[in-house]
Amino acid sequence: MMMLKPTLAIATTLFTILLLLDSSLALKEGQICVANKNCNSGLHCETCVTNGNVRPRCTRTQPINPTSKVKGLPFNRYSWLTTHNSFALLGQKSMTGSVILSPTNQQDTITDQLNNGVRGLMLDLYDFENDVWLCHSFGGQCYNYTAFQPAINVLKEIQVFLEANPSEIVTIIIEDYVTSPKGLTKVFDAAGLRKYWFPVSRMPKNGGDWPKVDDMVQKNQRLVVFTSKASKEASEGIAYEWRYLVENQYGNGGMKAGSCPNRAESPSMNTTSRSLVLVNFFRDLPDVAQSCKDDSAPLLSMVSTCNQAAGKRWPNFIAVDFYKRSDGGGAPEAVDVANGHLVCGCGNIATCKENMGFGACQLPEAEATPQHAAAKVSSFGIQNCRPVDLLWSLATTLVAMLIAL
Ligand SMILES: *[C@@H]1O[C@H](CO)[C@@H](O)[C@H](O)[C@H]1NC(C)=O
Ligand SMILES: *[C@@H]1O[C@H](CO)[C@@H](O)[C@H](O)[C@H]1NC(C)=O
Repeated sequence: MMMLKPTLAIATTLFTILLLLDSSLALKEGQICVANKNCNSGLHCETCVTNGNVRPRCTRTQPINPTSKVKGLPFNRYSWLTTHNSFALLGQKSMTGSVILSPTNQQDTITDQLNNGVRGLMLDLYDFENDVWLCHSFGGQCYNYTAFQPAINVLKEIQVFLEANPSEIVTIIIEDYVTSPKGLTKVFDAAGLRKYWFPVSRMPKNGGDWPKVDDMVQKNQRLVVFTSKASKEASEGIAYEWRYLVENQYGNGGMKAGSCPNRAESPSMNTTSRSLVLVNFFRDLPDVAQSCKDDSAPLLSMVSTCNQAAGKRWPNFIAVDFYKRSDGGGAPEAVDVANGHLVCGCGNIATCKENMGFGACQLPEAEATPQHAAAKVSSFGIQNCRPVDLLWSLATTLVAMLIAL
């Protein structure tokens, strides 16, 4: 490393002190920050080194809640941020006491994910230790060093969230290895989730619209659960995933720019007898460093490739690893884009007019939620003339110029 010039060191220090002192700065997406608290709500302060973004910037962690913009549409007219292997947390130890030797896909707990607006959770469930566990496998078998924790812990977190947020709907997508009799039924019941169950009988079988979200809320049928085991629809009333949704290839095979093949178990993407569309976009082996790059422009591009493959249908679920990592808008922005098209026919839900008809878009200039419209604003743009903002702008500009030397 080249030695820092003294002026650069001084400017950087000044800049850092300024940011640490003034937590009221409320920086916008893309602006350089030091700590999460410098950023507006819904953003955090992070680098994306793999994209050349070596200075930490405020990046999105939350999508816009689409029902806050336009209420009352069918469930399949909204898109939801979805976490792949939601339970496999970085740095977590197995509750068996063992070290975990399998890959991890997310950074924060299910509760934190839900509070950030994640509404789709992908969970791998196994029989283990006379119970149902969240686990990874070798050949369908769970081991101490691939077992995260008993499923009930996480299901109870979901129960607490649904209880505290009476108008929110959560979808669980299970990769199902449970063979014990009524194993899933027992663990969902024990977690207190039965009373939120959305019944299979109300799911459209032939490409029709789902019930409206306010109807689901009013009936308290706010938990949608899909399993990968077809037989459980008849035996336990748990919907067989690919009877209701189409899904693209997951892993590296689903990340080739310009193509969006279906996952083997799924009907082809353009099968319109399935009302829901899910886009997977994550690597075979999760990679926390690369994820900020993956979850940025390539994800947005795949969402539109899959829109074409699915017969001009926008995804209802966008599933990623490390959902909070990006170089700016990330997975939350991809969900906003899908919601813009699904909800109001605009390019981004930020530009949908509240509770107006389809096609009523606001110009971005007249944006009502500036923290989401700021993506294109230069990091060094002077927003207003508060002295501290001016100082901050000067400091950032100075740092930027010195780094550029
Ligand atoms: C696996 O963990 C359980 C505790 O959950 C323990 O009783 C058992 O001995 C462990 N097995 C191995 C092989 O470490
Ligand atoms: C649907 O997609 C498949 C490829 O997955 C393609 O072979 C087929 O022609 C498409 N059907 C229509 C009607 O576009």
